[in-house]
Amino acid sequence: MDVLVTLDAMDRWTSSGGGSVGLVPTMGFLHDGHLSLVRRARGENDRVLVSIFVNPTQFGPSEDFEDYPRDTDRDCALLLAEGADAVFIPSVEDIYPAGFATSVTVSGPLTERLCGASRPTHFAGVTTVVARLFGVTRPDRAYFGQKDAQQLAVIRRMTADLALPVEVVGCPIVREPDGLAMSSRNVYLSNDERAQALTLRESLLLAQRRVTAGIRDASALRDEIVGLVARQALLRLDYVEFVHGETLDPVDTLSGQVLLALAAFVGRTRLIDNATLQVDE
Ligand code: PAJ
Repeated sequence: MDVLVTLDAMDRWTSSGGGSVGLVPTMGFLHDGHLSLVRRARGENDRVLVSIFVNPTQFGPSEDFEDYPRDTDRDCALLLAEGADAVFIPSVEDIYPAGFATSVTVSGPLTERLCGASRPTHFAGVTTVVARLFGVTRPDRAYFGQKDAQQLAVIRRMTADLALPVEVVGCPIVREPDGLAMSSRNVYLSNDERAQALTLRESLLLAQRRVTAGIRDASALRDEIVGLVARQALLRLDYVEFVHGETLDPVDTLSGQVLLALAAFVGRTRLIDNATLQVDE
């Protein structure tokens, strides 16, 4: 596996080999959710490239950029075992060189709702870095997790709007055996916090059960989930919303496929989760 730590090395890697390239952009501290994207990419491309870059511009001023967990040696060992062909580990100066002055922003409800309401600069940071990574690595396909459903919708929008020659592939959420969605931030949780964090997943399962039982009123179901989360002393709900999976427009009466997305603080850690509810007509 090639470990590429400069733009020149990255460029040589892209120019030298033939065939299709699948890119898996990450912020490192890899877990099985990330590795599921690598496996998918490996099955669909001649070469698989994983990027590891903790992107400062997508963290708010009071967020965890400094504390974000990092372990590049462990990440490289995991990627080697998965059969990745190369890992790109750029410096901040590689991604944002002196004179860098461009911001790529998807505007409107897609980035203002849900996570965008409490993290107003987050998605501009994500789209700017992903656009730059696409430019620097020139992949044929790029793999993103449905775990970050809004991020996936925003990146699809950007890629379509800018006619970027990259196929964006969405991949299912990978969970811990007890149902907690895998996240690099789960390491922040104490035992008690981790136990209460399971309520997020339970809320999603409850919603699917209610839908199967015939409930179609999003607001009533929302209230029930708000009540469930409120009973957990260590949880503070940020949002719980029923939305259209691509536009993220709010849905009042559940029908077809509906994305149920939620975010909550568990102690000081902010976790997100979501499920696509299947609503029979
Ligand atoms: P990061 O949080 O490291 O996630 C990298 C990719 O892994 C994202 O596409 C994310 O959706 C996916 N992922 C994370 N947890 C997952 C899980 N449990 N199941 C399936 N996929 C999962 O998302 C980012 O980094 C950054 O915003 C990035 C896109 C790299 C831009 O900086």
